[in-house]
Amino acid sequence: MRKKIIAGNWKMNKTPAETVTLINELKPLVATDEADVVFCVPAISLTTAIEAVKGTNIQIGAQNMYFEESGAYTGEIAPNMLTSIGVKYVVIGHSERREYFAETNETVNKKVIKAFEHGITPIICCGESLTQREQGVTIDFIRQQIKVAFLTVTPDQAKIAVIAYEPIWAIGTGKVATTAQAEEVCKAIRECIDEIYDEVTAEAVRIQYGGSVTAASANELFSQSDIDGGLVGGASLKADFGKIVNYK
Ligand code: 13P
Repeated sequence: MRKKIIAGNWKMNKTPAETVTLINELKPLVATDEADVVFCVPAISLTTAIEAVKGTNIQIGAQNMYFEESGAYTGEIAPNMLTSIGVKYVVIGHSERREYFAETNETVNKKVIKAFEHGITPIICCGESLTQREQGVTIDFIRQQIKVAFLTVTPDQAKIAVIAYEPIWAIGTGKVATTAQAEEVCKAIRECIDEIYDEVTAEAVRIQYGGSVTAASANELFSQSDIDGGLVGGASLKADFGKIVNYK
């Protein structure tokens, strides 16, 4: 049985002081052994967040990371900077980074490899646009994203990877994918991992759904056989996140 993983992607929200306030509010609401709970906070709040979650079940994740070890990369954050403060997860290739910050399947692959090298679990994002869905090329597009993201990743690394399927048209729009749409793509992702690796790896990898998840939609989504939790934006900044974590 795969353990569910429910992550909040705070995006560009909350100052360090506000981070402490929100973590203190959410702490009791997300306390559970049944799922892994991750808060992916802005880089400037990582240290503060790690302090604030001490003694709880919450893990802290970053929202991005660079694929070089150190050097002249103004504004970037190196993997060992994350591990040195206790960051366990990093979101890689979110569609907002692909759209506004020129991330490509190739940079995603480099970052995924680096994250594994440093023992950080990548939450690898994929997802189609509305046009692609309407053109009927969703599965082909996602398979390509996955195949490139996992190039040269070993089976043992792939087994601990987290993949977040986030249809772009569902992000921040209030337009959640239907359960059938979400399950269809998450199943296709698992089949793709099976093709690249093997059945054992495909059964181990955890696949999240993301895009307008709320307390009202979480239960049905997370009960699907290929959906192992969620990557939650807007609703992770509110008490509702406690209901999403305790979705059953
Ligand atoms: P919303 O839940 O706000 O739609 O955001 C989803 C998302 O992009 C999480 O990474």
